[in-house]
Amino acid sequence: MFEPNTKVVILTGAGISAESGIKTFRASDGVWENHRIEDVATPLAWMKNPKMVWEFYQGRRKQLLEVDFNVAHRALVELEKYLEDHFLLITQNVDDLHSRAGSERLIHMHGELRKLRCEKCENIVIAMEKSHLTDKFVSCEKCSSNRLRPHIVWFHEMPFKMNEIYDAVERCEVFMAIGTSGHVYPAAGLLAIAKDVGAHCIGINLEPPENVDLFDEFHQGLAGELVPELISKWIKK
Ligand code: APR
Ligand code: ZN
Repeated sequence: MFEPNTKVVILTGAGISAESGIKTFRASDGVWENHRIEDVATPLAWMKNPKMVWEFYQGRRKQLLEVDFNVAHRALVELEKYLEDHFLLITQNVDDLHSRAGSERLIHMHGELRKLRCEKCENIVIAMEKSHLTDKFVSCEKCSSNRLRPHIVWFHEMPFKMNEIYDAVERCEVFMAIGTSGHVYPAAGLLAIAKDVGAHCIGINLEPPENVDLFDEFHQGLAGELVPELISKWIKK
């Protein structure tokens, strides 16, 4: 199905990292790692209760040291090797499992747990040393600020690189969404754009996502089983 010059855009969500041991967001109990999302993932929460937000993200940042990428992440690297510059991976995930697996043409639209950002001078640093992973805030080395924030796109904030993302989706021939519930915009709206421009749209998810009707083909099941299986079939034709 894929020729080496087929333009492919992949959108991934929490479901692709679930088999690596990272919890997804919208579990049936409605809480996320024992927190309500609005208590920890909004600018207001950071303003009102920075310590709680910081400790929550420090927990998630430390978790990165205990998990590893899985076969679904790896299969996307194989697809990228085959398609090279015709491939783009957009992830909503803030873990680093795609890049650790070897993905290079990758956009982290919702930010990255490994990075911290200064709200005063906009300095962004990779901060994963032991000294960065305690309950104490990390200060900025470039200016006077003593509190870097997680480099994460919170609710009510604009995702990163949206122009680049829209550009790629508007030009793609195949669009594939993996492990995402289709609840959070603008990411969830990319499928409709791809569909509008005539791309073949493929979904892979454990449960039918919100926007399942827009897919030309939908495969229900575990990413760790379906993604390697489908990709190896498609690139060998
Ligand atoms: N394989 C495939 N799909 C899976 C698996 C798996 N092993 N495990 C879970 N899923 C599916 C679930 O059925 C669910 O539909 O992955 C989806 C994950 O959905 P969400 O938890 O809503 O995660 P996501 O869509 O990535 O959330 C989007 O919301 O909170 C924000 O910024 C956060 O990036 C996140 C955004
Ligand atoms: Zn600074």
